[in-house]
Amino acid sequence: MLSFERSAALFARAARVIPGGIYGHTAPAATMPGRSPYYAQRAAGCRYWDVDGNEFIDFLCGYGVHLLGAQHPEVEEASARQARDGNAFNHPTALMVELAERLVGLVDFADWAVFAKNGADVTSWCLQVAREHTGRKKVLKIAGAYHGSHAWCAPGHGGWIDEDRVHIHGFPWNDLNAFHDLVRQHRGQIAAVITTAFHHPAFGASELPAPGFFAELEATCRREGIVLVLDDIRSGFRLDLGGSHRTYGFTPDLACYCKALGNGHPISAAVGRAELKRAAGHVFLTGSYWNSAVPMAAALKVLEIAQRDDAVGRIAQAGARFRAGFEEAAAKHGRALRFSGPDALPFVTFADDPDFFLAQRFCQAACARGVFLHPHHNWFLGAAHGEADIDQAVAAIDAALGALSD
Ligand SMILES: Cc1ncc(COP(=O)(O)O)c(C=O)c1O
Repeated sequence: MLSFERSAALFARAARVIPGGIYGHTAPAATMPGRSPYYAQRAAGCRYWDVDGNEFIDFLCGYGVHLLGAQHPEVEEASARQARDGNAFNHPTALMVELAERLVGLVDFADWAVFAKNGADVTSWCLQVAREHTGRKKVLKIAGAYHGSHAWCAPGHGGWIDEDRVHIHGFPWNDLNAFHDLVRQHRGQIAAVITTAFHHPAFGASELPAPGFFAELEATCRREGIVLVLDDIRSGFRLDLGGSHRTYGFTPDLACYCKALGNGHPISAAVGRAELKRAAGHVFLTGSYWNSAVPMAAALKVLEIAQRDDAVGRIAQAGARFRAGFEEAAAKHGRALRFSGPDALPFVTFADDPDFFLAQRFCQAACARGVFLHPHHNWFLGAAHGEADIDQAVAAIDAALGALSD
């Protein structure tokens, strides 16, 4: 049995000085309270250690940020080199120009790029750019899709008012009839459609685009003068180094990246077509740390290594091996499983487990055996998951499934 004593003690201290102790998606109540770590100590490759010294094979990759594995030596060396010269200045550094050039070279439709820190910085900014470009107010989004913690899109909770969402209209994923109804209803008023490359709602199986879904979205946006925004924060550079629109065969006007780009260093980016460059130049974009050079040095190295080492191919292979091993273990223990979404970011559910109670028990059992999984969020594979790591994880999962039956 693992001990989480130091995690619990830190959490007790935190609760006195931090609202909720730990907030957002890493709050214990949103994961496995009492049965998993609350605080991390260090990480390397596909493993991390918590403050109690427990070691885990990580299938969350810092919620997707570790594309190449934590503390990748070459990325850390590039960022440390820049840190010696400085991180924050009165001006951007040449790295910003290089990184914009690199993204414009990688993403086929991109003519320009800008940088911020978090995913929500750029998803929200892209909607402003679309509004500036079109002179329209309305935004269509997929119902239940997450685009960040800002008031227009935060999933429930407090602090937002109806007016924040007056011009935001949702339609169900893959439902072209509902989409066309909204386009008809608000014709001439819609600035943007924002979508992820596949649907990955919280507490729900992932759904891939139905044949023709993106083609129709794209054709309608072109015809109606609507800006199509791809929120590629979660899957960007994990499915295709040129952006996830290539995996699903469509072309947006703007795209947002974050998690994988910095391999743990804080940076996000938006890229866009030439036609949107004027509007992009008119929408104010800044933040105290948004020009920081160290994350830009890291991102440049991440993209270089990802290309050189075929990170996308390696992640797909690791994901396929993981799924095959997991499915075999589940069959052995008579558990009906459903893998949904791409193998690089799978969402796994058990049959007849609508409240995720079985998933919770299973993830706790896996955690106790050194494998970190999340009961109701998609998982992430990274290029640091080698065959031996996957096989070790599958053996632990097999044991965890056995323990569930006991
Ligand atoms: C699809 C998607 N969009 C936007 C965001 C928001 O990113 P951030 O938390 O960095 O603001 C996330 C974060 O998980 C995401 O998955």
